[in-house]
Amino acid sequence: MASRGKFSGRIGFIAAAAGSAVGLGNIWRFPYETGENGGAAFLLIYLICMVLIGFPVMVGEISIGRNTQLNAFGAYKKIGGAKWGLLGYWGIISAIMFLSVYNVIAGWAFAYFIQMTNGVLINTDNFDAHFTSQISDVTDLFFYSLGFMVLTAVIVSRGVKKGIESASRILMPALFIMLIGLILYSFTLDNAMEGIKFYLIPDLSKVTLSTIYNALGQAFFSLSLGMAALVTFGSYISKKENIVTSAALVTVTDTTVAFLAGLLIFPLVFSQGLSPSAGPGLVFVVLPGIFASLGVLGPIIGAVFFLLLCFAALTSTISLLEIPVSYLVDEKGYSRKKVVIFTATLVFIIGIPSMLSYGAVDYFTNFTFYEGKVKNVLDVVFDIFSDVGLPLGGFLMTIFIATKWKKANFNDELEEGNPGYNGSLIQKYLNFSLSYFAPIFLGLMFVVTVLKKFFEIDIF
Ligand code: PHE
Repeated sequence: MASRGKFSGRIGFIAAAAGSAVGLGNIWRFPYETGENGGAAFLLIYLICMVLIGFPVMVGEISIGRNTQLNAFGAYKKIGGAKWGLLGYWGIISAIMFLSVYNVIAGWAFAYFIQMTNGVLINTDNFDAHFTSQISDVTDLFFYSLGFMVLTAVIVSRGVKKGIESASRILMPALFIMLIGLILYSFTLDNAMEGIKFYLIPDLSKVTLSTIYNALGQAFFSLSLGMAALVTFGSYISKKENIVTSAALVTVTDTTVAFLAGLLIFPLVFSQGLSPSAGPGLVFVVLPGIFASLGVLGPIIGAVFFLLLCFAALTSTISLLEIPVSYLVDEKGYSRKKVVIFTATLVFIIGIPSMLSYGAVDYFTNFTFYEGKVKNVLDVVFDIFSDVGLPLGGFLMTIFIATKWKKANFNDELEEGNPGYNGSLIQKYLNFSLSYFAPIFLGLMFVVTVLKKFFEIDIF
Protein backbone atom coordinates (compact mmCIF):
# COMPACT_ATOMS: atom_id res chain seq x y z
CA MET A 1 0.00 0.00 0.00
CA ALA A 2 2.55 2.54 -1.16
CA SER A 3 0.00 5.31 -1.50
CA ARG A 4 -0.82 5.55 2.21
CA GLY A 5 2.00 7.97 3.00
CA LYS A 6 4.16 8.22 6.08
CA PHE A 7 5.60 10.84 8.37
CA SER A 8 9.26 11.49 7.66
CA GLY A 9 10.29 10.38 11.12
CA ARG A 10 10.05 11.11 14.78
CA ILE A 11 10.00 14.89 14.59
CA GLY A 12 7.50 14.82 11.75
CA PHE A 13 5.10 12.70 13.73
CA ILE A 14 5.51 14.71 16.90
CA ALA A 15 4.93 17.99 15.04
CA ALA A 16 1.78 16.65 13.42
CA ALA A 17 0.40 15.00 16.55
CA ALA A 18 1.21 18.02 18.69
CA GLY A 19 -0.37 20.15 15.97
CA SER A 20 -3.52 18.06 16.26
CA ALA A 21 -3.52 18.34 20.02
CA VAL A 22 -2.78 22.04 20.26
CA GLY A 23 -5.83 23.89 19.02
CA LEU A 24 -8.88 25.88 19.99
CA GLY A 25 -9.01 23.49 22.92
CA ASN A 26 -5.90 25.03 24.42
CA ILE A 27 -6.31 28.68 23.62
CA TRP A 28 -10.06 29.22 23.41
CA ARG A 29 -11.58 26.51 25.58
CA PHE A 30 -9.03 25.84 28.31
CA PRO A 31 -8.94 29.43 29.65
CA TYR A 32 -12.72 29.76 29.82
CA GLU A 33 -13.14 26.32 31.40
CA THR A 34 -10.50 27.25 33.95
CA GLY A 35 -12.13 30.63 34.51
CA GLU A 36 -15.55 29.07 35.04
CA ASN A 37 -14.34 26.23 37.23
CA GLY A 38 -12.42 28.08 39.88
CA GLY A 39 -8.99 28.76 38.39
CA ALA A 40 -6.01 27.01 39.93
CA ALA A 41 -8.04 24.13 41.41
CA PHE A 42 -9.25 23.24 37.93
CA LEU A 43 -5.73 23.49 36.56
CA LEU A 44 -4.50 21.05 39.18
CA ILE A 45 -7.15 18.44 38.44
CA TYR A 46 -6.63 18.93 34.74
CA LEU A 47 -2.92 18.17 35.14
CA ILE A 48 -3.71 15.04 37.13
CA CYS A 49 -6.11 13.87 34.37
CA MET A 50 -3.41 14.44 31.76
CA VAL A 51 -0.90 12.24 33.57
CA LEU A 52 -3.16 9.49 34.90
CA ILE A 53 -5.55 9.09 31.96
CA GLY A 54 -4.62 11.26 28.98
CA PHE A 55 -1.08 10.06 28.46
CA PRO A 56 -1.87 6.31 28.75
CA VAL A 57 -4.89 6.63 26.44
CA MET A 58 -2.73 8.44 23.91
CA VAL A 59 -0.13 5.66 23.98
CA GLY A 60 -2.96 3.17 23.50
CA GLU A 61 -4.37 4.92 20.44
CA ILE A 62 -1.02 5.43 18.74
CA SER A 63 0.00 1.82 19.26
CA ILE A 64 -3.24 0.48 17.75
CA GLY A 65 -2.62 2.63 14.68
CA ARG A 66 1.01 1.72 14.30
CA ASN A 67 0.43 -1.99 14.82
CA THR A 68 -2.16 -2.20 12.05
CA GLN A 69 -0.93 0.60 9.75
CA LEU A 70 -4.58 1.26 8.99
CA ASN A 71 -7.29 3.90 9.36
CA ALA A 72 -9.55 3.91 12.43
CA PHE A 73 -12.10 1.43 11.11
CA GLY A 74 -9.52 -0.85 9.48
CA ALA A 75 -7.38 -0.87 12.59
CA TYR A 76 -10.09 -1.95 15.04
CA LYS A 77 -11.46 -4.46 12.56
CA LYS A 78 -8.09 -6.00 11.83
CA ILE A 79 -7.38 -6.79 15.45
CA GLY A 80 -10.87 -7.17 16.85
CA GLY A 81 -13.11 -8.32 14.00
CA ALA A 82 -16.19 -6.73 12.48
CA LYS A 83 -17.85 -5.83 15.79
CA TRP A 84 -14.89 -3.81 17.02
CA GLY A 85 -14.77 -2.16 13.61
CA LEU A 86 -17.85 -0.30 14.83
CA LEU A 87 -15.66 1.52 17.33
CA GLY A 88 -13.62 2.73 14.37
CA TYR A 89 -16.81 3.90 12.68
CA TRP A 90 -17.78 5.73 15.84
CA GLY A 91 -14.42 7.53 15.70
CA ILE A 92 -14.95 8.49 12.06
CA ILE A 93 -18.49 9.74 12.63
CA SER A 94 -17.38 11.65 15.72
CA ALA A 95 -14.59 13.27 13.73
CA ILE A 96 -17.02 14.42 11.04
CA MET A 97 -19.49 15.84 13.54
CA PHE A 98 -16.82 17.36 15.77
CA LEU A 99 -15.07 18.99 12.82
CA SER A 100 -18.37 20.39 11.54
CA VAL A 101 -18.68 22.53 14.70
CA TYR A 102 -14.99 23.05 15.35
CA ASN A 103 -14.73 24.64 11.95
CA VAL A 104 -17.44 27.13 12.88
CA ILE A 105 -15.45 28.36 15.88
CA ALA A 106 -12.31 28.40 13.74
CA GLY A 107 -14.29 30.62 11.36
CA TRP A 108 -14.94 33.06 14.23
CA ALA A 109 -11.21 33.14 14.95
CA PHE A 110 -10.49 33.75 11.28
CA ALA A 111 -13.01 36.61 11.16
CA TYR A 112 -11.49 38.17 14.26
CA PHE A 113 -8.01 37.96 12.80
CA ILE A 114 -9.12 39.78 9.66
CA GLN A 115 -11.06 42.36 11.68
CA MET A 116 -8.04 42.98 13.88
CA THR A 117 -5.87 43.71 10.88
CA ASN A 118 -8.34 45.95 9.05
CA GLY A 119 -9.29 48.00 12.10
CA VAL A 120 -12.96 46.98 12.31
CA LEU A 121 -12.58 45.38 15.71
CA ILE A 122 -10.43 48.01 17.36
CA ASN A 123 -12.94 50.71 16.45
CA THR A 124 -15.85 48.88 18.01
CA ASP A 125 -17.13 50.42 21.20
CA ASN A 126 -19.19 47.51 22.46
CA PHE A 127 -17.30 44.22 22.17
CA ASP A 128 -20.10 42.17 23.56
CA ALA A 129 -22.53 43.50 20.99
CA HIS A 130 -19.96 43.09 18.25
CA PHE A 131 -19.42 39.44 19.13
CA THR A 132 -23.16 38.77 19.26
CA SER A 133 -23.76 40.36 15.89
CA GLN A 134 -20.64 38.75 14.40
CA ILE A 135 -21.68 35.21 15.27
CA SER A 136 -25.13 35.75 13.82
CA ASP A 137 -23.96 37.40 10.60
CA VAL A 138 -24.81 34.77 8.00
CA THR A 139 -22.62 36.08 5.18
CA ASP A 140 -19.56 36.46 7.35
CA LEU A 141 -20.04 33.10 9.02
CA PHE A 142 -20.41 31.40 5.71
CA PHE A 143 -17.43 33.10 4.16
CA TYR A 144 -14.99 32.58 7.02
CA SER A 145 -15.97 29.00 7.84
CA LEU A 146 -15.84 28.08 4.20
CA GLY A 147 -12.44 29.74 3.91
CA PHE A 148 -11.17 27.74 6.83
CA MET A 149 -12.50 24.48 5.46
CA VAL A 150 -10.94 25.14 2.06
CA LEU A 151 -7.56 25.82 3.70
CA THR A 152 -7.86 22.59 5.66
CA ALA A 153 -8.80 20.63 2.56
CA VAL A 154 -5.90 22.02 0.53
CA ILE A 155 -3.39 20.92 3.15
CA VAL A 156 -4.91 17.48 3.65
CA SER A 157 -5.09 16.85 -0.08
CA ARG A 158 -1.32 17.36 -0.29
CA GLY A 159 -0.91 14.21 1.77
CA VAL A 160 0.55 13.18 5.07
CA LYS A 161 4.13 14.33 4.67
CA LYS A 162 3.94 17.23 2.26
CA GLY A 163 0.71 18.62 3.62
CA ILE A 164 0.04 17.76 7.24
CA GLU A 165 3.61 17.38 8.45
CA SER A 166 5.13 20.38 6.75
CA ALA A 167 2.27 22.67 7.77
CA SER A 168 2.68 21.61 11.39
CA ARG A 169 6.44 22.01 11.33
CA ILE A 170 6.08 25.66 10.41
CA LEU A 171 2.90 26.56 12.29
CA MET A 172 3.79 24.99 15.64
CA PRO A 173 7.06 26.85 16.32
CA ALA A 174 5.46 30.07 15.07
CA LEU A 175 2.69 29.57 17.57
CA PHE A 176 5.13 29.12 20.45
CA ILE A 177 7.04 32.26 19.61
CA MET A 178 3.88 34.37 19.38
CA LEU A 179 2.58 32.98 22.64
CA ILE A 180 5.77 33.68 24.60
CA GLY A 181 5.96 37.20 23.18
CA LEU A 182 2.39 37.95 24.21
CA ILE A 183 2.88 36.54 27.71
CA LEU A 184 5.94 38.67 28.36
CA TYR A 185 3.90 41.67 27.37
CA SER A 186 0.89 40.74 29.55
CA PHE A 187 3.14 40.46 32.62
CA THR A 188 4.00 44.12 32.34
CA LEU A 189 0.38 45.23 32.88
CA ASP A 190 -0.97 46.54 36.18
CA ASN A 191 -2.70 43.94 38.29
CA ALA A 192 -1.23 41.09 36.25
CA MET A 193 -0.30 39.48 39.57
CA GLU A 194 -3.96 39.08 40.55
CA GLY A 195 -4.53 36.99 37.44
CA ILE A 196 -1.50 34.87 38.13
CA LYS A 197 -2.70 34.21 41.69
CA PHE A 198 -6.15 33.17 40.49
CA TYR A 199 -4.52 30.84 38.02
CA LEU A 200 -1.81 29.32 40.17
CA ILE A 201 -2.87 29.25 43.81
CA PRO A 202 -5.52 26.53 44.15
CA ASP A 203 -8.50 26.78 46.43
CA LEU A 204 -9.46 23.15 46.84
CA SER A 205 -12.78 23.99 48.45
CA LYS A 206 -13.91 24.88 44.92
CA VAL A 207 -13.53 21.30 43.66
CA THR A 208 -16.82 19.55 42.91
CA LEU A 209 -17.77 16.59 40.80
CA SER A 210 -18.35 18.85 37.84
CA THR A 211 -14.82 20.26 38.20
CA ILE A 212 -13.57 16.72 37.74
CA TYR A 213 -15.65 15.78 34.75
CA ASN A 214 -15.06 19.11 33.08
CA ALA A 215 -11.32 18.67 33.58
CA LEU A 216 -11.46 15.16 32.17
CA GLY A 217 -13.50 16.27 29.16
CA GLN A 218 -11.08 19.12 28.61
CA ALA A 219 -8.10 16.73 28.75
CA PHE A 220 -9.66 14.51 26.07
CA PHE A 221 -10.64 17.46 23.90
CA SER A 222 -7.21 18.98 24.17
CA LEU A 223 -5.16 15.84 23.57
CA SER A 224 -7.33 14.84 20.58
CA LEU A 225 -8.26 11.59 22.29
CA GLY A 226 -11.27 9.34 22.00
CA MET A 227 -12.05 9.64 18.31
CA ALA A 228 -9.18 7.73 16.76
CA ALA A 229 -7.30 10.80 15.53
CA LEU A 230 -4.16 9.31 16.99
CA VAL A 231 -4.94 5.83 15.75
CA THR A 232 -4.95 7.42 12.31
CA PHE A 233 -1.74 9.39 12.82
CA GLY A 234 -0.11 6.39 14.52
CA SER A 235 -0.71 4.40 11.33
CA TYR A 236 1.73 6.68 9.50
CA ILE A 237 4.73 6.01 11.72
CA SER A 238 7.33 3.30 11.41
CA LYS A 239 8.25 0.49 13.73
CA LYS A 240 11.49 2.26 14.53
CA GLU A 241 9.77 5.02 16.47
CA ASN A 242 9.50 5.05 20.22
CA ILE A 243 5.80 5.51 20.89
CA VAL A 244 6.14 6.16 24.61
CA THR A 245 8.57 9.06 24.24
CA SER A 246 6.65 10.52 21.31
CA ALA A 247 3.36 10.42 23.21
CA ALA A 248 5.05 11.94 26.25
CA LEU A 249 6.40 14.80 24.16
CA VAL A 250 3.00 15.44 22.59
CA THR A 251 1.31 15.43 26.00
CA VAL A 252 3.90 17.80 27.43
CA THR A 253 3.67 20.16 24.44
CA ASP A 254 -0.10 20.25 24.59
CA THR A 255 -0.16 20.82 28.34
CA THR A 256 2.48 23.52 28.04
CA VAL A 257 0.53 25.45 25.42
CA ALA A 258 -2.69 25.28 27.45
CA PHE A 259 -0.78 26.35 30.54
CA LEU A 260 0.80 29.26 28.67
CA ALA A 261 -2.55 30.32 27.22
CA GLY A 262 -3.83 30.65 30.78
CA LEU A 263 -0.73 32.52 31.78
CA LEU A 264 -1.42 34.98 28.98
CA ILE A 265 -5.14 35.40 29.43
CA PHE A 266 -5.65 35.69 33.20
CA PRO A 267 -3.18 38.57 33.69
CA LEU A 268 -4.91 40.33 30.76
CA VAL A 269 -8.37 39.74 32.21
CA PHE A 270 -7.44 40.80 35.75
CA SER A 271 -5.50 43.80 34.55
CA GLN A 272 -8.83 45.17 33.37
CA GLY A 273 -10.73 44.12 36.48
CA LEU A 274 -12.90 41.76 34.43
CA SER A 275 -14.45 38.44 35.41
CA PRO A 276 -12.63 35.28 34.31
CA SER A 277 -15.89 33.37 33.98
CA ALA A 278 -17.20 34.92 30.78
CA GLY A 279 -17.68 31.50 29.15
CA PRO A 280 -17.02 30.76 25.47
CA GLY A 281 -16.93 34.50 24.74
CA LEU A 282 -13.87 35.01 26.98
CA VAL A 283 -11.37 35.09 24.15
CA PHE A 284 -13.70 36.88 21.73
CA VAL A 285 -15.27 39.51 23.96
CA VAL A 286 -12.88 40.19 26.78
CA LEU A 287 -9.62 40.07 24.86
CA PRO A 288 -10.46 42.45 22.00
CA GLY A 289 -11.62 44.99 24.58
CA ILE A 290 -8.29 44.65 26.31
CA PHE A 291 -6.35 44.92 23.06
CA ALA A 292 -8.26 48.08 22.20
CA SER A 293 -7.22 49.65 25.49
CA LEU A 294 -3.54 49.06 24.82
CA GLY A 295 -2.97 52.03 22.58
CA VAL A 296 -1.03 51.79 19.33
CA LEU A 297 0.32 48.36 20.13
CA GLY A 298 -3.20 47.00 20.67
CA PRO A 299 -4.15 46.12 17.10
CA ILE A 300 -0.80 44.44 16.50
CA ILE A 301 -0.98 42.35 19.64
CA GLY A 302 -4.58 41.51 18.86
CA ALA A 303 -3.81 40.46 15.31
CA VAL A 304 -0.94 38.26 16.49
CA PHE A 305 -3.20 36.66 19.05
CA PHE A 306 -5.94 35.77 16.58
CA LEU A 307 -3.44 34.60 14.02
CA LEU A 308 -2.09 32.28 16.68
CA LEU A 309 -5.58 30.99 17.34
CA CYS A 310 -6.05 30.32 13.60
CA PHE A 311 -2.74 28.47 13.31
CA ALA A 312 -3.58 26.32 16.29
CA ALA A 313 -7.04 25.55 14.91
CA LEU A 314 -5.72 24.74 11.45
CA THR A 315 -3.32 22.02 12.56
CA SER A 316 -6.26 20.49 14.45
CA THR A 317 -8.80 20.68 11.63
CA ILE A 318 -6.37 18.94 9.29
CA SER A 319 -6.01 16.07 11.74
CA LEU A 320 -9.78 15.81 12.07
CA LEU A 321 -10.34 15.76 8.32
CA GLU A 322 -7.63 13.13 7.94
CA ILE A 323 -9.66 10.61 10.00
CA PRO A 324 -12.49 10.09 7.45
CA VAL A 325 -10.14 10.74 4.53
CA SER A 326 -7.77 8.00 5.62
CA TYR A 327 -10.72 5.62 5.95
CA LEU A 328 -12.02 6.29 2.44
CA VAL A 329 -8.57 6.10 0.88
CA ASP A 330 -7.63 2.83 2.66
CA GLU A 331 -10.90 0.97 2.53
CA LYS A 332 -12.48 2.20 -0.67
CA GLY A 333 -9.37 2.93 -2.67
CA TYR A 334 -10.52 6.35 -3.93
CA SER A 335 -7.95 9.00 -4.75
CA ARG A 336 -6.97 11.28 -1.88
CA LYS A 337 -7.96 14.46 -3.76
CA LYS A 338 -11.47 13.27 -4.57
CA VAL A 339 -12.01 12.01 -1.07
CA VAL A 340 -10.85 15.30 0.43
CA ILE A 341 -13.22 17.35 -1.72
CA PHE A 342 -16.12 15.06 -0.94
CA THR A 343 -15.49 14.88 2.82
CA ALA A 344 -14.76 18.56 3.30
CA THR A 345 -17.98 19.47 1.46
CA LEU A 346 -19.98 17.00 3.51
CA VAL A 347 -18.55 18.28 6.79
CA PHE A 348 -19.20 21.88 5.81
CA ILE A 349 -22.82 21.14 4.96
CA ILE A 350 -23.36 19.22 8.19
CA GLY A 351 -21.95 22.22 10.03
CA ILE A 352 -24.45 24.72 8.60
CA PRO A 353 -27.11 24.31 11.33
CA SER A 354 -24.39 24.78 13.98
CA MET A 355 -23.11 27.81 12.13
CA LEU A 356 -26.57 29.34 12.23
CA SER A 357 -27.22 28.55 15.85
CA TYR A 358 -26.04 31.78 17.42
CA GLY A 359 -28.95 33.95 16.52
CA ALA A 360 -29.02 33.61 12.73
CA VAL A 361 -31.86 31.09 12.73
CA ASP A 362 -34.15 30.93 15.71
CA TYR A 363 -34.94 27.22 15.40
CA PHE A 364 -31.25 26.28 15.56
CA THR A 365 -30.55 28.85 18.27
CA ASN A 366 -33.25 27.69 20.68
CA PHE A 367 -32.94 24.09 19.65
CA THR A 368 -33.60 22.27 22.90
CA PHE A 369 -33.42 22.48 26.66
CA TYR A 370 -31.43 20.45 29.19
CA GLU A 371 -28.88 20.93 31.96
CA GLY A 372 -31.06 23.78 33.09
CA LYS A 373 -30.47 25.87 29.98
CA VAL A 374 -31.48 26.43 26.38
CA LYS A 375 -29.08 24.70 24.02
CA ASN A 376 -28.38 25.53 20.41
CA VAL A 377 -27.36 22.98 17.78
CA LEU A 378 -23.67 23.66 18.24
CA ASP A 379 -23.95 23.00 21.99
CA VAL A 380 -25.78 19.74 21.37
CA VAL A 381 -23.18 18.49 18.89
CA PHE A 382 -20.33 19.37 21.23
CA ASP A 383 -22.13 17.82 24.20
CA ILE A 384 -22.68 14.54 22.39
CA PHE A 385 -19.48 14.23 20.40
CA SER A 386 -17.08 15.97 22.74
CA ASP A 387 -18.03 16.07 26.43
CA VAL A 388 -19.72 12.67 26.40
CA GLY A 389 -18.37 11.06 23.23
CA LEU A 390 -14.64 11.51 23.70
CA PRO A 391 -14.34 9.94 27.16
CA LEU A 392 -16.70 7.19 25.91
CA GLY A 393 -14.41 6.53 22.93
CA GLY A 394 -11.45 6.42 25.32
CA PHE A 395 -13.28 4.04 27.64
CA LEU A 396 -14.13 1.63 24.81
CA MET A 397 -10.54 1.77 23.57
CA THR A 398 -9.22 0.70 26.97
CA ILE A 399 -11.73 -2.17 27.02
CA PHE A 400 -10.58 -3.12 23.55
CA ILE A 401 -6.94 -3.31 24.64
CA ALA A 402 -7.68 -5.17 27.86
CA THR A 403 -10.10 -7.75 26.50
CA LYS A 404 -9.44 -8.13 22.79
CA TRP A 405 -5.98 -7.06 21.76
CA LYS A 406 -4.58 -8.18 25.14
CA LYS A 407 -1.94 -6.62 27.27
CA ALA A 408 0.89 -8.82 25.93
CA ASN A 409 0.34 -7.74 22.31
CA PHE A 410 0.03 -4.13 23.33
CA ASN A 411 3.31 -4.40 25.24
CA ASP A 412 5.05 -6.08 22.30
CA GLU A 413 3.99 -3.23 20.04
CA LEU A 414 5.51 -0.74 22.46
CA GLU A 415 8.72 -2.75 22.74
CA GLU A 416 9.30 -2.09 19.01
CA GLY A 417 11.42 1.00 18.68
CA ASN A 418 11.88 1.02 22.45
CA PRO A 419 13.95 -2.00 23.47
CA GLY A 420 13.84 -2.62 27.20
CA TYR A 421 10.27 -1.35 27.51
CA ASN A 422 9.01 -4.74 28.66
CA GLY A 423 9.71 -5.02 32.35
CA SER A 424 10.21 -1.28 32.81
CA LEU A 425 8.41 0.87 35.32
CA ILE A 426 6.62 2.79 32.60
CA GLN A 427 5.26 -0.50 31.26
CA LYS A 428 3.79 -1.35 34.66
CA TYR A 429 2.33 2.12 34.90
CA LEU A 430 0.72 2.03 31.44
CA ASN A 431 -0.63 -1.47 31.98
CA PHE A 432 -2.13 -0.52 35.32
CA SER A 433 -3.71 2.61 33.96
CA LEU A 434 -5.11 1.03 30.80
CA SER A 435 -6.34 -2.18 32.43
CA TYR A 436 -7.83 -0.83 35.63
CA PHE A 437 -7.62 2.82 36.41
CA ALA A 438 -8.63 4.40 33.09
CA PRO A 439 -11.54 2.06 32.25
CA ILE A 440 -13.05 2.31 35.72
CA PHE A 441 -12.66 6.05 35.95
CA LEU A 442 -13.77 6.73 32.36
CA GLY A 443 -16.74 4.37 32.64
CA LEU A 444 -17.83 6.04 35.84
CA MET A 445 -17.41 9.53 34.44
CA PHE A 446 -19.39 8.59 31.36
CA VAL A 447 -22.35 7.50 33.45
CA VAL A 448 -22.10 10.53 35.74
CA THR A 449 -21.86 12.96 32.82
CA VAL A 450 -24.80 11.50 30.91
CA LEU A 451 -27.01 11.46 33.99
CA LYS A 452 -26.08 14.97 34.97
CA LYS A 453 -26.17 16.53 31.52
CA PHE A 454 -29.22 14.97 30.00
CA PHE A 455 -31.27 13.88 33.00
CA GLU A 456 -30.18 16.33 35.69
CA ILE A 457 -29.51 13.47 38.08
CA ASP A 458 -26.65 13.91 40.56
CA ILE A 459 -25.51 10.56 41.88
CA PHE A 460 -22.82 11.91 44.18
N1 PHE B 1 -7.16 18.76 20.30
C1 PHE B 1 -7.79 19.72 19.48
C2 PHE B 1 -7.85 21.04 20.25
O1 PHE B 1 -7.39 21.12 21.35
C3 PHE B 1 -9.15 19.29 19.02
C4 PHE B 1 -9.20 17.90 18.48
C5 PHE B 1 -9.92 16.92 19.14
C6 PHE B 1 -8.52 17.58 17.32
C7 PHE B 1 -9.96 15.62 18.67
C8 PHE B 1 -8.55 16.28 16.82
C9 PHE B 1 -9.28 15.30 17.49
O2 PHE B 1 -8.38 22.00 19.79
